[in-house]
Formats: sequence, structure tokens, C-alpha cells
Amino acid sequence: MKFFIDTANIDEIREANALGVLSGVTTNPSLVAKEGVSFHDRLNEITKEVDGSVSAEVIAEDVEGMLEEAKDLVEIAPNITIKVPMTLEGLKAVKKLSEKGVKTNVTLIFSANQALLAARAGATYVSPFLGRLDDIGQDGMELIKQISDIFDIHGLETEIIAASVRHPIHVTEAALNGAHIATIPLKVLKQLVKHPLTDAGIEKFLADWKKQS
Ligand code: E4P
Repeated sequence: MKFFIDTANIDEIREANALGVLSGVTTNPSLVAKEGVSFHDRLNEITKEVDGSVSAEVIAEDVEGMLEEAKDLVEIAPNITIKVPMTLEGLKAVKKLSEKGVKTNVTLIFSANQALLAARAGATYVSPFLGRLDDIGQDGMELIKQISDIFDIHGLETEIIAASVRHPIHVTEAALNGAHIATIPLKVLKQLVKHPLTDAGIEKFLADWKKQS
């Protein structure tokens, strides 16, 4: 499983990228709004920093509007992926974009059927939202497993991005259940590094080293 970072904050992206484990970035309108900057300028900065896929979400709700926005967004850099919401209009847009060779990420996936439809429309990625399902008492991880099984059975090449990731257990389980990618906030990425026994081990090694010198 690969790691994407889920943020529009350029400092966080740089910090994550410096770790050498980053394969891409996902943004959404809420994350961009938090930054208070121009969407295009920020995408420019992000695509200069990261070589991998950078998801930029369209705001239009109709296929024509989505395609219009996508046309501008793909001009920014070759690694822009167009993020499209899981709607009837969104599916039409994904089909058209995939025919033109534009990469797409179908977002707000909450059921296996939605993921299957997105894949059949030609989506490069589907983004099932784990945390938001858990929040309403449904099992987000079971959805990852269902999508992974269905894609395997039917030989679908669309990649699964585990999204709305809230904690390290989500990451481990997403990897075990077949997600190709987890898109995670910087806070969770840093939590993955930490283990109390690692910290205690370093402390003990340093203390022993000081004793003999
Ligand atoms: C990623 O593509 C999604 O936009 C993101 O993971 C949503 O996360 P949230 O449910 O924490 O807002």
C-alpha cells in the first residue's frame, strides 16, 4: 500500500515529502478553503513539490461544468488527477475524462456498488471514506474489503484509496484489506512512526553509550 497525504497545506506536504514515503496528495474543497489561498496557485505549488498524483476536486454539479473545470485544472501540471463526486453527473464526467486519458479519483464513495460503477466508468481511483462511515456506526473497513474483493473477482484495475483515515489502526487494516493507497493527514503519518518501545530503546542505547564514554 502506498501513502498519499490528505491536505492542501504546503508546509505539511513538504514535511511529509521529506520523509521519502509520499506517492501523492489529495485535496478537497474543505481542505482548500481552510488555507485561504487561490486553488490554482496552491495546486501549482503542490505539483512542483510532489511528483505523484495530486487530486484536485471539481465544484460543478453538472457534467459540462465538471469538464470545463477539469480542462483548466489539467493545464496546471501533468500529475493532476481530477477528483469527481460520486453522482450520476460525476460518472458521466469520469467516462469522458478517462476517454481523454485524464486520471480521475471518484470521491465520497460509501458503498461497493458506487465503487463498481466508478470503476466501470473508467476511474483511475475510488476513494471510500472510512472515518465518515465509522462515525455513523457502519464498518468502513468492511467496505474496503468488499471493494477489494469485487475488483479482484472482476479484474478491475481501478485503485482503491482508503480515505477519511483517522488513526493508525485504519492504516494497518486498510493495507490488510487490499487498499492500494491510504490518504492520510500529517498527524496520522507521524503517529505511524511512533512506538513507545522505540523511544524507550533509543533512550536506553544513548544512556548506555554515555556510561562507557
Ligand atoms: C480524501 O480524499 C478525502 O477528501 C478525505 O480523506 C476526507 O476526510 P475527512 O472525512 O476526515 O474529512
